[in-house]
Amino acid sequence: MDVTPWEVSGDLKETDYGRIATEFGAKLIDKDMLNSIKELTGDIHPFLKYGIFYAHRDLDVILAEHRKGNPFYLYTGRGPSGKMHLGHLLPFLFTKWLQEKFGVDLVIQITDDEKFLFRDISWEDIRKTTRDNILDILSLGFKPEKTHILVDSEQAGDLYREAVRVSKHITASTAKAVFGFTDSDNIGKYFFTSMQAVPAFIIPALSGRNVKCLIPYAIDQDPHFKVARDVIPKLGYNKPSSIISKFIPSLKGGGKMSSSDLNSGIYLDDDPKVVRKKLMKYAFSGGRETAEEQRKYGANPDVDFAFNVYRMLETDTDQTDRIYTQYKAGEILSGEMKQLASDLISGFLEKLSPVREDAEKNFQSYMFNPDDFRK
Ligand code: TYM
Repeated sequence: MDVTPWEVSGDLKETDYGRIATEFGAKLIDKDMLNSIKELTGDIHPFLKYGIFYAHRDLDVILAEHRKGNPFYLYTGRGPSGKMHLGHLLPFLFTKWLQEKFGVDLVIQITDDEKFLFRDISWEDIRKTTRDNILDILSLGFKPEKTHILVDSEQAGDLYREAVRVSKHITASTAKAVFGFTDSDNIGKYFFTSMQAVPAFIIPALSGRNVKCLIPYAIDQDPHFKVARDVIPKLGYNKPSSIISKFIPSLKGGGKMSSSDLNSGIYLDDDPKVVRKKLMKYAFSGGRETAEEQRKYGANPDVDFAFNVYRMLETDTDQTDRIYTQYKAGEILSGEMKQLASDLISGFLEKLSPVREDAEKNFQSYMFNPDDFRK
């Protein structure tokens, strides 16, 4: 298995993404689907234009629901294992766009229990990280009225009742086959996927209203929702839909940015000097060995870390297209590409701090309150 929620082995190439999505049973986002989204939102997000969000499960069902004037809700999440890097922000940036375009509620699950079970981290450290990660997510500017953050251990009452119903339909052999667990894995891991399933039907469960759910995530999380989609209809709710992204690669190339190696990614608290140094020193380049060769043969921007991050953060796609063409043609050198990315990243990170501070003052107003949804 190449990809599970806890491990992405090997060097994922562009061509692997299509194969993985198809193997998992998801569909690729095609031109017609992009046109439908554009028709409904009036716009196409760069992550869609560039195929970063590239696959889905039943996204057409959600779009049809919206066309009929029925609201749906969004659900995404974060496992608080440590500091957040730029890759972790990718689904949140996209989710924020969806939330604004469709004007819908968003549930964000923070799986502190998951990180306790899967990593060697104390509850005390997880608690600190949980608060820090929530603030990092909120620094993107989510609106408190429509954003509802669920922390597993804190909202255990509402979640657990539903999670046991999910777990009753998942056998140990399914968990082994889907997640690659063995007999020496702790039994908490086998249960955990039931917790990640619950937010996909928590609003209908609390409200009794038949509201559908759309879940954005990177492909590593798909095994959870493959299982969840089998079980949730057995509990009387709709299958959740999803929209799935590729990874922002690790700084050193290949795989995904990992939170266990601090030099494998750009962290949200990296200052401009650190950002620049990491890019110059470690970033995998799609450029040539020498400036002369680069001018002659051009770069491969698709595998270039600096270009990938540039494309993630630049909102003007005409500008991104220009940089792509120039870099590919050898008109931009590797060091220049790194400098462009470094400036863009630092500018982006700088804007997060004041929003983060505001969110901290209103922290409680973002927290999930079941009474907002109960019938
Ligand atoms: P976590 O904390 O590992 O990752 C948070 C989100 O970021 C995505 N992701 C990436 N996206 C792009 N490039 C990368 N390099 C990269 N690395 C991680 C993940 O796919 C995820 O969407 N169990 C989950 C938390 C969770 C969740 C959810 C995520 C609970 N419910 C519903 C998505 C949807 C976790 O540990 O994610």
